[in-house]
Order: sequence, then C-alpha cells, then structure tokens
Amino acid sequence: MSELKNSPWITCFLRPQELLLLLMLRWAIAYMEDPAFPHLGDSSQPLPRACPWRCSCPRDDTVDCAGLGLSVFPDNITKAARHLSLQNNQLQELPYNELSRLSGLRTLDLHSNLISSEGLPDEAFESLTQLEHFYVAHNKLSVAPQFLPPSLRVADLAANEVVEIFPLTFGEKPELRSVYLHDNRLNNTGLPPNTFLGSEAITTLSLSSNQLSYLPPSLPSSLERLHLQNNLISKVPRGALSLQTRLRELYLQHNQLTDSGLDATTFSKLSSLEYLDLSHNQLTTVPEGLPENLTILHLGRNCIRQVEAVRLHRARGLRYLLLQHNELGTSALPAGTLRPLRALHTLHLYGNRLERVPPALPRHLKALVMPHNRVAVLGERDLVSARALAELNLAYNRLASERVHPGAFRRLRALRSLDLAGNQLSRLPEGLPPSLRSLKLQRNQLRALEPELLAGLKKLRELSLAHNRLRVGDIEPGTWHELQALQVLDLSHNELSFVPPDLPEALEELHLQANRISHVGPEAFLSTPHLRALFLRANRLHMTSIAAEAFLGLVHLRVVDTAENPEQVLVQLPPKNKGALSPKG
Ligand SMILES: *[C@@H]1O[C@H](CO)[C@@H](O)[C@H](O)[C@H]1NC(C)=O
Ligand SMILES: *[C@@H]1O[C@H](CO)[C@@H](O)[C@H](O)[C@H]1NC(C)=O
Ligand SMILES: *[C@@H]1O[C@H](CO)[C@@H](O)[C@H](O)[C@H]1NC(C)=O
Repeated sequence: MSELKNSPWITCFLRPQELLLLLMLRWAIAYMEDPAFPHLGDSSQPLPRACPWRCSCPRDDTVDCAGLGLSVFPDNITKAARHLSLQNNQLQELPYNELSRLSGLRTLDLHSNLISSEGLPDEAFESLTQLEHFYVAHNKLSVAPQFLPPSLRVADLAANEVVEIFPLTFGEKPELRSVYLHDNRLNNTGLPPNTFLGSEAITTLSLSSNQLSYLPPSLPSSLERLHLQNNLISKVPRGALSLQTRLRELYLQHNQLTDSGLDATTFSKLSSLEYLDLSHNQLTTVPEGLPENLTILHLGRNCIRQVEAVRLHRARGLRYLLLQHNELGTSALPAGTLRPLRALHTLHLYGNRLERVPPALPRHLKALVMPHNRVAVLGERDLVSARALAELNLAYNRLASERVHPGAFRRLRALRSLDLAGNQLSRLPEGLPPSLRSLKLQRNQLRALEPELLAGLKKLRELSLAHNRLRVGDIEPGTWHELQALQVLDLSHNELSFVPPDLPEALEELHLQANRISHVGPEAFLSTPHLRALFLRANRLHMTSIAAEAFLGLVHLRVVDTAENPEQVLVQLPPKNKGALSPKG
C-alpha cells in the first residue's frame, strides 16, 4: 500500500483508464484496511481535544485556523477532523504526510493562500476518500490537481493560474455538483474532452474569465448553470449543447461570438433554458433556434441591425428582451416582430438608432426603455397596444412638442413612470394619465407651465423640471393645485427669480438651486409645511434678502442648502429641529 501510494510513476505513465482502475482498487483496500473510516464519529473512546496552537476547535470534528497568517501547516490537527479551515493564510505548500493522515476530512478550505501546484501533494488526496468540499480559490495553482477523490461534491479552484485540467481532476465523480474554475488561464487545450467523463451530476460549472476560444464540447448533460462569460469564444461547435436539456442559465456575454459561430441548432435543444446572456458579442442578428422556455434574452452591446420576426416566434414565453446598444434603426423591428411575444414584460432598446417606438407592442408589456435613440415623433397610435405599460422611458430622444400627439399617452392607464428628459419639448405633454407617480421633464425647453396639463395627476409624487427655461411669471396660477401627492419637486437650473407661490402642500423636497432667486419673502413656504429639504444653492441671495419668518413653520426641515450665493446666508431652523444643519456645503 504505502509503496504504491508514494510512487509517482503511477500518475505519469498509466493511461487514464488504467489509472482509474488502480485507484479504485486502492480505495477498496483502504476502506477494508481502515475500520475507523465508517465509524469516525462514534468512537467509544473520546478523542483528546488537541487543537493546534492559535486555532479554534468549536467541535471535535472541526478545526478552524483561518486568517492567522500561517506560513506553515499546523501540527497536531486531530485525525478526527472532518472540517478543516485554513483560508486566508500564507501557506505555500501542504505536507504530504500531514494531509494524507486526515483521511476523515469532508471539507478542506484553503482559499486565499499562496499554494502552488508544486506545493499541493496530489497523492495525498488519494487518502481523503471522504472529501466533499474542496476550496482552493485565490491561490497560485498553475495546473489542477491530477486527482481528486470520487466523494467530491463541490470544487472551487477559481482565481488561480490554472492552464490544465486532468481527466481525474473532475472526471469519475458521481457526487460532484459544482465546479468553479473562473478566473484562470484555461484555453481549450487545457480542458480536454474527457474532463467531466463519468461526472454526470454536475449542475453548476463556472469557466468564466478564462481563455477559451470555443465552447467546450462534452460538457455534462446534467448542467443547470453554465458560466462562460469573459472568454474569447467565437464559436459554439455543432452539437456542443445538444444534450444539456436541463440547462436553465447560460452566460456567454463578453465573448467574440459572430453570427457564423452559431447555427440554428446551437440553442434549440436547450428545452429548459430560461436565461441566455449573449450581450457584449459581435452578433448582427438575433440567433436562430431560440428555445421555447426562454424567459430572459440579453442581446445588448452587439451589432444587431435587424430583428427578424421568425427568430423570436418560438420564444413565446420571453419576458425580458434586452437589445440595448445595438444598431437598430428605422424598421429594424417591423410590425409583427414583437406582437407574438405575449408574455413580454420588459423591452430594453436604449442606445440604438430608432426613429419611432416599435409598432405593435405586445399587450402585456410593462416597461419600454428606450432613451438615447432618435425618436422624433410620437403618434396617436404608437403606444395604443401597450395598455399595460407602467414604465415608459423616452429620455434623450428628439421629441419636440409639435410632434407628440396630444393623445399619445392618454390610454396608458397603468403608467406610473414617464421619463421624457433630454428632449426638445417646449410645453408639458398633453393627456398625461392620472396613474402617474413620477414625471421627468428635465433638460427640455419648457418656458411655461399650464395648470390644465397637470390637472388630475393626483398620484404624482415626483416631478422634475430641472434645466428648463422656466420663469415664475410663466408658471400660471393653479399649476400645482391638483398635485396633492407631490413630494419631490425639482425646479433647479431654471430662471426663477423667487420661490414660486402656492406650491403643493405635500412637498417634502424642493430643489431651487441654480436659479436667479434674490429674495425669499416671509410667506414663501406657507403652503408647504412638510418641507424636509430645501436647496437654494447658487442663487443670488444675500443675508438681508431672506426673511427669517419664512422658515418658522417648517418643523420638519432638516436640510437647507444655501451655499454658493454671493453672500454667506445663514438660515435659523425652527428650534424643534434638533441637530439640523445650516447652511450646508
Ligand atoms: C503536538 O504533537 C507533538 C508530536 O506529536 C507533541 O509532542 C506535542 O505535545 C503536541 N502539542 C500539542 C499542543 O498537543
Ligand atoms: C493553451 O495554453 C497552453 C498553456 O498556457 C499554451 O502552451 C498553448 O499554446 C495554448 N494553446 C493555444 C491554442 O492557445
Ligand atoms: C417549459 O415551461 C413550461 C411552462 O412553464 C413547463 O411546464 C415545462 O416543464 C418547461 N419545459 C422544460 C423542459 O423545462
């Protein structure tokens, strides 16, 4: 036995199959010879509680030597140890005789040390016949261990410098569930086709941040999660994903995939696939053969110019379709492309070149997110099919008031959030639905506010009108009248010369910075007793231009920002506001 154990020729000169037979034979012998194994816990003689110096041993079978700055493997670890923690130390090597003695180990945690492949005595693992959890992430391994025990369930070798995996590193492990190999230096040569042979229970495999140039073939059919992001993958070989019918999540983002690296069968057998991330690649079309159960499809940051209707038709369960930062232009999403996606919940299209909202939006769509496009027209019927829409983001487009139809928003009875910032609007939009909670209109060219356009927005809590050209005289009386729920109002960066009168009573946060306010009269905040934060920074205030009485009734006021005015302006907060600060900044 011991002769066999210590003979290095075994691993060097035998072919994998022979090696395997030999090893299996040796475990069998080990089991028979060592009656202590199956009875580890119930030894009648209590073991002495020898705990290595400075380590803690909360239980007879647990030795915790984590984070002690150890550079030498501790002595006197009890043979009864099942769980050994050595993470966060300075270990460079593990002695063969110490490690192989710990044959009862279930968990060996070595992560964050300095262990090199030379410092890890592969043969010692032959004695660890019960090992289930092996953590050696964040070390200096240059190759994987030649051999890990068949009892293994979880192996974490992430963040090393591994260039090569061997057939018995992860092969022939019927219990193995999770393998973490991300952040290494593996190319396809270092990951031979028999890597997972005989390990048909692996559900999670992480190979992200390596140097793979194609998707490794011969992956276990048991996989449920496969991480391949951040590689150099330009191709998925035909049939490489033909057996993975349990795969639910596939991460291929940040690779070099082109249309020709995929074919109609690449994904078509993945009948359980729910999440497919192909973002940050070089695709110019939506891949063919998308599986039926797909829920989330991430195609952002590619070069997609056109979405062909047939490519999406099978994926009828799609809920999230993410197409941001592509090259979608006019007619890239023709009518009939999206309509069949009856379950579609969220459509992300930001950073494309779209000139209109896509036609025939699916009926259950909840979020349409398309800022940074070139939308210049919003017609009466453009949003008519998307009646369930709760969030509409058209910020940073080219909408001018004359080209937004007065009825464009009218039927969106569920709309809660509307973002039209960064357009060319000169008036408030018409027909805003009363369901709105948040309305963003900053960075437009608004010159006036008319009460009838904000009428009925009784649920609106947040309104941003910053960076427009508003003057107090162009805010008509009654403008705020119906905004009973408004808590946050941003009027910063306008041309206001005093605090607008009759602000809504519910207001808690008022942004007036960067206007031309030179005077705050005693009645400025009479209508807003709930104010908590007031921003008056960068106006034209002098100490004498602020009426102290203006703040007397504001018992909730906690923040007043008056910095960057021509003169330092101090505001005395009402006495109840303990710990309040003024001025801020
Ligand atoms: C550790 O083991 C050595 C040799 O086996 C023994 O002499 C020593 O007393 C032990 N130390 C402790 C703290 O148990
Ligand atoms: C794969 O990695 C090994 C080890 O780093 C290297 O010797 C070999 O050239 C690489 N092969 C390819 C195709 O890049
Ligand atoms: C696909 O989804 C349906 C509905 O959620 C489910 O009944 C079915 O089992 C799924 N198919 C697979 C292969 O997971």
